[in-house]
Amino acid sequence: MSEIPRQTRVLIIGGGPAGSLLALLLHQQGVESVILELRTREHVLERVRAGVIEHGSAEIIRAAGLAGRMDSEGFVHEGVQVAHGEKMIRIDFEGLTGKHVTIYGQTELQRDLYDALDTACIPLIDEAEGVRVEGIESDAPVVSFERGGTTSQIQCDFIAGCDGAHGVSNDFIPPGLQRTFERMYPFCWVGLLSETRPISDELIYARHERGFALCSMRNESRSRYYVQGPADTTLDDWPDDRFWSELAARLPTATSASLVTGPSIEKIVTPLRSWVSEPLRHGRLFLAGDTAHVVPPTGAKGLNLAISDVVYLSEALAGFYRNGSSTGLDGYSDHALARVWKAVRFSWWMTNMLHVFPGMSDDFERRLQTTELDYLFGSENAQRAMAENYVGLPL
Ligand code: APR
Ligand code: PHB
Repeated sequence: MSEIPRQTRVLIIGGGPAGSLLALLLHQQGVESVILELRTREHVLERVRAGVIEHGSAEIIRAAGLAGRMDSEGFVHEGVQVAHGEKMIRIDFEGLTGKHVTIYGQTELQRDLYDALDTACIPLIDEAEGVRVEGIESDAPVVSFERGGTTSQIQCDFIAGCDGAHGVSNDFIPPGLQRTFERMYPFCWVGLLSETRPISDELIYARHERGFALCSMRNESRSRYYVQGPADTTLDDWPDDRFWSELAARLPTATSASLVTGPSIEKIVTPLRSWVSEPLRHGRLFLAGDTAHVVPPTGAKGLNLAISDVVYLSEALAGFYRNGSSTGLDGYSDHALARVWKAVRFSWWMTNMLHVFPGMSDDFERRLQTTELDYLFGSENAQRAMAENYVGLPL
């Protein structure tokens, strides 16, 4: 942990991908910041998260000089597979859009970000508890927190709330000034990580009468799989054997024949929801990443939205310090939300198309879902629209 400074320009709450990348982008533009992180460094570095990096996100990581390991250890994926029952097609990203995605675990990216913070001597104060702010509406807010039983205060020009879906930054905006939008999906994903060879070179998104399944990976010998489960399911319901047999049953027979199973090294249950809070600013507080919006994992957009938010925010803050103009800061919320909502829409579309909804007894709804998949399978234009969104809309 670094020594606690008494003041800084931008105080960043949360040291996940959004907060760490923001600090680095600011540093590269000559703007000083301090990060306050609730958990220990080790905890943050061990969290297992998704791993699909959009084309534009990878370019940002590269431009920031952070892509050494991503480029040597990550995997370029030029397409994904979509299965429906026994049928499977490939969405050819490279052919349809000239772009691709990179498979590189968020855990690895987080390590690269922390290494770069250390190299740049950017203060990252971990185990900072009870963060609260005063003077958000003034031009000299003060952030207080406790660490090891001692209370400290840091005075700053701006606060960036990057503290994820369970953070506190959102609570600093008076309820009457905030509007939230939410959709809870009536199911969850059960995820399993194993030291096994991935079933395929590319990700497979599968819709089956038994429910959704996803085959993903971290590297040639580590696989990540998900199956849709009931909303109230718990890990106890999913011993490894049940998980593997359910996964196999949801994939086309020819594909499931190549499934290599093995003991799980991590297993999770994750609910699916969309949630957006507007606006992303109150006074001197700006929100970015999961604290401002959550998307279901189906479109692999969470990390990528955190990245685009902090690119916009770092440019707006750097612009303020360069020429004293607050135009960028004033436009930040609308600018970021326009991109956020497009990702919310895409994640909602993918989720609706690929999951079995309980109570979907309505034949009309079922027919529409099947028709959506038929249309995707048969139309290059529909495939291009999916590819364009999956590789990431322009920043
Ligand atoms: N004070 C300080 N830090 C906090 C607080 C708090 N009160 N509450 C949470 N944090 C920290 C968390 O411990 C975490 O390290 O904020 C960080 C937020 O990081 P993420 O949850 O990773 O969110 P974000 O940086 O916005 O990145 C979004 O991460 O969760 C995934 O799927 C999500 O891929 C997306 C990406
Ligand atoms: C993952 O690899 O964990 C993953 C991949 C794609 C998704 C969600 C999660 O859409």
